[in-house]
Amino acid sequence: MADPRAHAREMARESIGRGDVTGWFDRLYSESLRDGFAISWVDLAPNQYLVEWLGRLANPPRGHALVVGCGYGDDAELLAGTGMDVTAFDVSPTAVARCRSRFPGSRVEYLVADVLRPPAQWIGAFEFVFEAYTVQVLPGEARSRCAASIGGMVAPGGTLLAVARSRRPEDPEGAMPWPLTRRELDLFLVPGMRLTELTELVEPGDPPVPRFVAEFARD
Ligand SMILES: C[S@@+](CC[C@H](N)C(=O)[O-])C[C@H]1O[C@@H](n2cnc3c(N)ncnc32)[C@H](O)[C@@H]1O
Repeated sequence: MADPRAHAREMARESIGRGDVTGWFDRLYSESLRDGFAISWVDLAPNQYLVEWLGRLANPPRGHALVVGCGYGDDAELLAGTGMDVTAFDVSPTAVARCRSRFPGSRVEYLVADVLRPPAQWIGAFEFVFEAYTVQVLPGEARSRCAASIGGMVAPGGTLLAVARSRRPEDPEGAMPWPLTRRELDLFLVPGMRLTELTELVEPGDPPVPRFVAEFARD
């Protein structure tokens, strides 16, 4: 695969053009495993901003955690290691199967589910929700619904940590993954939710990648 990122963008463009905003993820994971090419977001390591955030807490969160769009499961396993009960889900059955095969004795409950149609029992059910890079791969109305759905799964008294690429409002939207503007962080604000900490940083690289690390609390 000459350019896996360009290939993913083309799959996304074609799928979204047919009105299917999520179908391309499973096709990409399947092709990647079959043909042996890398997916740009797969690094087989926990998210560095989640690691740093947990490292700054005197006490890790307690209770039930939810990992949205969990990919190959490294963030879920990190959270399970803190003692939380963890549910992790992805719309891609191939990714979820890979989580189960990578971590056969895991305490994490890995499930296939769509954040745009979450199970009713997940609403307001999780003391900690972690979201990295899922909102930014969805376009238009699905993007707003995704963020609101994620916010809605946080229990009263719970916390949401969201990590995303960022852009200034005057910057072009660009190509998938579409970075979030500061205003789009408000899409997570369901009733009782407030932004408690916002870190804006630029990750070194070629090109450098601006990101938001946003912590929310739900009253
Ligand atoms: C850019 S990847 C990030 C994966 C992982 N969070 C990480 O940081 O490595 C986005 C993930 O969200 C999943 N995803 C996309 N749309 C979804 C949806 N509607 N419901 C659940 N998962 C979704 C994709 O299959 C993919 O695994």
